[in-house]
Amino acid sequence: MRCIVFVITTLIVHLSEATTGGGKAPKIPLNDGNSIPALGLGTFLGFSQKGQKEVKPGDSEKPVKWALEAGYRLIDTAALYLNEDQIGAAVRASGIPREDIFIVTKLPMDNQRDVVKQLEKSLARLNMSYVDLYLIHNPVAFNPGFKGFDIVDYLDTWKGMEEAKNLGLAKSIGISNFNTTQIDRILENGQIKPSVLQVEVNLHLGQDKLIDYCKRNGIVVMAFSPFGPMFHDSLPSIRPDDPTLVAIAEKHGKSVTQIVLRYLIQKGVVPIPKSVKKNRIEENIDVFDFNLSSEDMNKIGTFNKEKRTVGMSFWQDHPYYPFEKSDQVHDNPFESAN
Ligand SMILES: NC(=O)c1ccc[n+]([C@@H]2O[C@H](COP(=O)([O-])OP(=O)(O)OC[C@H]3O[C@@H](n4cnc5c(N)ncnc54)[C@H](OP(=O)(O)O)[C@@H]3O)[C@@H](O)[C@H]2O)c1
Ligand SMILES: *[C@@H]1O[C@H](CO)[C@@H](O)[C@H](O)[C@H]1NC(C)=O
Ligand SMILES: *[C@@H]1O[C@H](CO)[C@@H](O)[C@H](O)[C@H]1NC(C)=O
Ligand SMILES: *[C@@H]1O[C@H](CO)[C@@H](O)[C@H](O)[C@H]1NC(C)=O
Repeated sequence: MRCIVFVITTLIVHLSEATTGGGKAPKIPLNDGNSIPALGLGTFLGFSQKGQKEVKPGDSEKPVKWALEAGYRLIDTAALYLNEDQIGAAVRASGIPREDIFIVTKLPMDNQRDVVKQLEKSLARLNMSYVDLYLIHNPVAFNPGFKGFDIVDYLDTWKGMEEAKNLGLAKSIGISNFNTTQIDRILENGQIKPSVLQVEVNLHLGQDKLIDYCKRNGIVVMAFSPFGPMFHDSLPSIRPDDPTLVAIAEKHGKSVTQIVLRYLIQKGVVPIPKSVKKNRIEENIDVFDFNLSSEDMNKIGTFNKEKRTVGMSFWQDHPYYPFEKSDQVHDNPFESAN
């Protein structure tokens, strides 16, 4: 009996390793036959008062190393983040087979007219022969060096994405920061359906309609900024010491951040929390050994305000700006005074 139990347990462990490539997160099927881990690491280092933060040696390589050791198998980057070289180096140094790791990168917003060439540049920086997922970062396009808007029809950009997939340089292709009108246009006119939409989703920005739309169209939603304003002290927000969240966390013997991530996973989206701290990177993936009840889910859902944390209103005069326009235009952090 004990022997049978052992064999079955070993079999189950092996089966789950086979489907997760040794990682902690189970995999979700994509509409093109590939599959994506249910949680990943975000790697954008963000902004300082002076604009986009400079990326110094090790800044992204170390967190990615810790993440791979902790069982992450999905890493999210972008040409914009200026760290693709460090991500490639960390993946190679890990010794984990390349095919067990899911790498996402994105088309530069200021070079949307030559997709294959831009992806080849990313691959050279990553030092890889393919990425698992290539995304159009934004339907809003700029001239090289962000010198003013470029009006590129994203349908033309999508043709380049299809070419990248057909060439095998990207196993799957998708979009980021697109709205449903724009996705409809791609679905109606494209040859290949987007596999993924990456957008902001968190407790403050539920995006239920958009998520439902994507489910109906077979598109997996990746949730960026999964903590929303929770750790931005300057923004009004639900805080990590909120009594409702603390009570749910205590009941499950988990932290509030783990509850937030588990909530998003059970909502059916793929969160990509960013951290550069080892203990937090480990904490953020330790969310696959418990379930929130539907009562917990409903309680957490009541925090939704449909309010964005990552606003892009400074680009709202672009004809393909995807979001509702705002009366109060935010300062553009990409152009902060030096
Ligand atoms: N497609 C797009 O346009 C787009 C836009 C925005 C973001 N993204 C992607 O999504 C990723 C995540 O979004 P994000 O970076 O905006 O925000 P986020 O992941 O929601 O939050 C990151 C912040 O939370 C802190 N944090 C992380 N884990 C924590 C924990 N367990 N306890 C306490 N604090 C914790 C981090 O600090 P420390 O690092 O100091 O731990 C950091 O300040 C990005 O890195 C990027 O890959 C994509
Ligand atoms: C690129 O990867 C290969 C192994 O695939 C390695 O030999 C080479 O040193 C790497 N190049 C850089 C610049 O890291
Ligand atoms: C969570 O729920 C899923 C199905 O809904 C089940 O397969 C899994 O075993 C549960 N996990 C735990 C730790 O209860
Ligand atoms: C999506 O963005 C386009 C701009 O390209 C805009 O005309 C349209 O109204 C937006 N649709 C939704 C649903 O927000």
